[in-house]
Order: sequence, then structure tokens, then C-alpha cells
Amino acid sequence: MNAHSDPDLNIQAPAYVKNARLIAWVADMAALCKPARIHWCDGSQEEYERLCQQLVDAGTFKRLNPAKRPGSYLAWSDPSDVARVEGRTFICSEKKEDAGPTNNWMAPAEMRATLAPLFDGCMAGRTMYVIPFSMGPLGSPIAQIGVELTDSAYVAVNMKLMTRMGRAVHDVIGTDGAFVPCMHTVGVPLAPGEKDRTAWPCNETKYIVHYPETREIWSYGSGYGGNALLGKKCLALRIASTMGRDEGWLAEHMLILGVQNPEGKKYHVAAAFPSACGKTNFSMLVPPKAFEGWKVTTIGDDIAWIKPQADGSLRAINPEAGYFGVAPGTNMQTNPNCMLSLKRDVIFTNVALTDDGDVWWEGMEKDTGHLPEHLLDWKGQDWTPQIAKETGAKAAHPNARFTAAATNNPALDAAWDDPAGVRIDAIIFGGRRSTTVPLVTEARNWQEGVYMAATMGSETTAAAVGQQGVVRRDPFAMLPFTGYNMSDYFQHWLDLGRQLEARGATLPLIYCVNWFRKDEDGKFVWPGYGENMRVLKWMLDRLEGRVQGRDTAFGVAPRYGEINWQGLAFSPAQFETVTRLDTAAWDEELKLHDAHFDKLAHRLPGELLDIRAALAQRIHA
Ligand code: GTP
Ligand code: SPV
Ligand code: MN
Repeated sequence: MNAHSDPDLNIQAPAYVKNARLIAWVADMAALCKPARIHWCDGSQEEYERLCQQLVDAGTFKRLNPAKRPGSYLAWSDPSDVARVEGRTFICSEKKEDAGPTNNWMAPAEMRATLAPLFDGCMAGRTMYVIPFSMGPLGSPIAQIGVELTDSAYVAVNMKLMTRMGRAVHDVIGTDGAFVPCMHTVGVPLAPGEKDRTAWPCNETKYIVHYPETREIWSYGSGYGGNALLGKKCLALRIASTMGRDEGWLAEHMLILGVQNPEGKKYHVAAAFPSACGKTNFSMLVPPKAFEGWKVTTIGDDIAWIKPQADGSLRAINPEAGYFGVAPGTNMQTNPNCMLSLKRDVIFTNVALTDDGDVWWEGMEKDTGHLPEHLLDWKGQDWTPQIAKETGAKAAHPNARFTAAATNNPALDAAWDDPAGVRIDAIIFGGRRSTTVPLVTEARNWQEGVYMAATMGSETTAAAVGQQGVVRRDPFAMLPFTGYNMSDYFQHWLDLGRQLEARGATLPLIYCVNWFRKDEDGKFVWPGYGENMRVLKWMLDRLEGRVQGRDTAFGVAPRYGEINWQGLAFSPAQFETVTRLDTAAWDEELKLHDAHFDKLAHRLPGELLDIRAALAQRIHA
């Protein structure tokens, strides 16, 4: 690319931008990327609407029928750009072993040399948006500031919903405050006079790059989700996890919910499930009728920053301000609070368009009782139930998503925006496993909980490009998101537990769950969704010492009679199907733990091997 900087390019920052490093960096990046224009985002509603209109004019957005879905838009991405690209995601620490065996690695100098020609002139003919954002409440001592430079207006409007974005961020960083620089381009420069050939420009070549030591992010070639909204996975998980390692806190792929009993006592629970395994659903859970007087409220649905306090407690905040959630499967039965969050002011990506200008995805037929007669699918092609039957074509892409502000959520917790966060009472880890792993068990101590999380397996989902439905180890649901060596990450969790115990703190209880066990016919046995309240209640009863459980090889499990079954027909035999520990299956499972630990052998905490040995013994006892 040999585009030249536009001599008319005005790089002048608005008067309210006073951070010298930011101004110099924007000038440098403009010189490198050679955009035609620079737009300093102020985060106003007026700006949001203007950019959305611009996206409508460009054909990237369709404005949805305002009578059905006010203030909402639909985008269809390029069919090659539909999910995170884990194979193209890099952790570029100086030393390879600091990235560890679970991350792609390249030396920083080599990566910089690779990216330099790609970014040279990459924004030619386009606008460079300067997006200041805060992960966490503005001005909070635990928040982190980022500034994303991007040539995608789609990214700019999504960042407005997903983060605290805009002018007030400049007040926070002042003249010399720190920020994480986040470079993003779709990687499709335009020659003079050239127009976009598609409404979703992106490049076949993709790089999602992190320099943990210098805390920088460089993303090339994709406009989708976690590849492009750099505050989310790149900053709030990969970069933040390394900050947490250095500073003694945790950045986790966890929802945070509040649960209040009829007597008014409130608990807070964090839960890590891999991508598209039910975090959004669980964080918005509506308890079944039998739980009258119980209230579940959402603090966050995807990311938690957890910080130890002077008294040894752990407090957590959600660094995000919106939801970028999976649409397919969501309906009034599986997640009513989510459906209510999507009534207005939403950006939908890769769902289907109805003939009356509304959206549709697989699962919505459960609410209406029938399939729509005709749709345009996420590729813009005709879809009818007949076509679907014949070709198997999905109306919505399985990783189709919605972007909605947290304030849309009727179940939003009053403390969701509290800079002090909420006190965590229990931590849940759960994967998607058709077999082997029981419905719920409680770790006997922090260390055993770390073992359960470290060895967690899950069947892969459409949230990432690649083969789906195969079991892979996804420790802590952080496999694609830990910005450093996974074994060091395990050690960090163990160390944190030790330190808190040494202070005499009561640590949160740790649970392992699996909503996804299947019967011989391949059907889920556990009803899931709102019914997960029954399991959550058992955990709270354990916290209060109200139920004893029974000791199993893999932690403490509920007795049938300890769960409230009112209003649900779930027999002891079915309960047995979802809770049984099969010795042969666990022998196989332990071999997979071994293979996983072999891969992580370098710097793996020996403590985990001791726990493994004890587990093997109990299974055969
Ligand atoms: P990311 O946003 O990708 O990190 O994922 P998430 O964990 O927030 O995923 P989400 O809550 O959107 O999960 C969506 C998928 O999980 C859909 O396929 C749901 O049908 C399924 N799901 C959620 N909860 C349950 C449950 O309790 N039981 C079953 N069987 N499926 C569930
Ligand atoms: C995930 O894949 O875990 C997500 C979606 O939350 S994305 O932001 O695209 O990574
Ligand atoms: Mn996620």
C-alpha cells in the first residue's frame, strides 16, 4: 500500500483533549494509517444517531421497523467474519514461555515488523474514529481507560453501548493519565475515488495482537465482536489478566449476579462458563414459581474484575456497560429478561430480517408457536421453513449477537455501577459436557476448586471460528482469554487463596456445574435456564450450613431431598442420570486431565498434581 497522508488531514484534537501522550499517539497513528479524516468521538447521543444514520446510508445497517423495534438496527457481516479468530490471536510477550503453550506467540519485534506494512496506509479513504472509553465506572480507582482508534463506524457505535465512552474519559486521563492504546482496522484501504464493494469490509488476513508488557492492542482485518470491540476480550480479559497477575487481582470470564432470598438477605455469585455456554442466561435468571420472593439481578454477563480487600473479602465489578450476547436460543421461556432488554435501542448482528422489518432467530418460534413464513436470512437470502427443511439453512448465524446497553435490562442490579463492586460469596465453574461431569458439586476447599476450574472441559461452540462440539480443556473458561502463561495463571489463583486464608478470611465457596448432560437419545436431561435456580438455592443453603450434601470423589454433591423440586417433575432416576459419577468415564477423564497437565507441565503448580492423585484414589475407593 503506498497511499500518502492526505495533506488536508486535520489532526487537531478538540480543546477538551489535553493528554499529551494521546495527542502524540493519534498523530503518529494517523501518519501510519493515513486516514482521510479523523473523528474524535464525544460519546453523545447525537453522535451515536449520526453514525448509525451513516451506517444505514452505507448499507451496513438496516433500520428496523420503529413500531416493532424502536431505535434498533441490523447488520449482516461478511460471511467470513462471524466470530473470534482464536488461531489468529497472539500474545506477544518478550519471552515465549510467558505466553505459555495455550497462546499463539511471536516475539514483539517480529510482530511489529509483520504488522507495520499491514497498517501502513490501512485507513486510506476512510475516517479514523478516536474512541475514548472506560472499563468500569468513570473515575473509579479500579477502572481502566482505553482509547481505540478504528476505521469502523460499526465499532464506534457498539463501543458506545458496551463501554462508558466519550468526552468524560478525557477528564479522567487529564494531561498525563494512563490509557491502553488499542489500534483497530478492518484492513481495506480505499484508493482515491474508490467505493466500498461490500457493506462489511474486512480482510482475509487477520491479526489480533496483544503486547502484555507494554499494554498495547493491535487488531487487523476483522470487524466482528471480540476481534474488533477491543475493550472487551482484548483489554478487559487478556491485558487485564496480566495487570491482575502483576497487581494481585483477577480478570475473569465471569458473569456476576445478585440473589436475594425472601427474608431480604442478598448474596453475590460469579460464574465462569465458556463462550456461548449460558453466562448471559444465568446472569438474568428468572426463578421458577416455587421460589416466590426470590430475586435474581444482573451485575454483569461476561467479565468480572475481582479484587481482594483489606478484610480478606473479594469484591467484583463488571468492567462493561452493555451486553454483546448470543441471540439464537433466546426467547421468553429461556431468558425473558434478555428478551425485554432487546425491545429497543439494540444493534443486532447476523440475525434474520422479517418481512415487517423486525428481527428473528432460531428459538423465537417457541414464543409464537410457529415459524415465520418468510425471512431474509443473515446472508440476505430468502428463507422459508421449506428451504430450511431442505437445506438446513439457519435464518440467524449460530453466533449472531445483539448489542444492548445494560440499562435496558429490567433485572439490572442496583449496584451494577458501584465503583466498590459487590462482595463475592460463591464462584461457579461450568462447561458444556454431554457426559461424565455431574450437575453440581462443591469443592472441599479453594485448592480443589482451582483444580476443578483448571481441568474444566467444554464442547466448543460457534463463538469461535473452527470445529464445533468437540471437548477441549478450557481452564477457568479462560483458554482464549488468559494473556499469559496458563500455569502461572493457576499459580496466581492458588497464591491469592493462600494470602486470603493467611489473613483469616472466609473464601467464597467454589462449585462445578454442568447443565448439559445428555441421555441416550442425545437430549438434555436437566431442564436448565430458570430451573438452574434450584441448584443455585442449594449452593446458598450450603453457604448457610443448612444442607449437608454427600461426599463424592469429585466434591460435595446434593442429596435428592436437598433440592426444592416444587413445580418440577424431576424423578430420583433423572437426578441419578445427571449426578452419577461413572468410574470408567472418570478414568478416561483423568487421562485427559493428565494430557492437559502434560501440555502445561512447565511451571505447573505441583499442588494440582497432588489433588489429581487424591481424586484418582477416591474414584477407585
Ligand atoms: P459469551 O457471550 O459467548 O461469552 O457466552 P455466554 O456464556 O454469555 O452464552 P449465552 O448465555 O448467550 O449462552 C447461549 C447458549 O447457551 C445457547 O445455546 C443457550 O440455549 C444455551 N444455554 C444457556 N443456558 C442453558 C441451560 O441452562 N441449559 C441448556 N441446555 N442450555 C443453555
Ligand atoms: C465470547 O466469545 O466469549 C464472547 C463474544 O463474549 S466476543 O466478544 O465476540 O468474544
Ligand atoms: Mn464471553
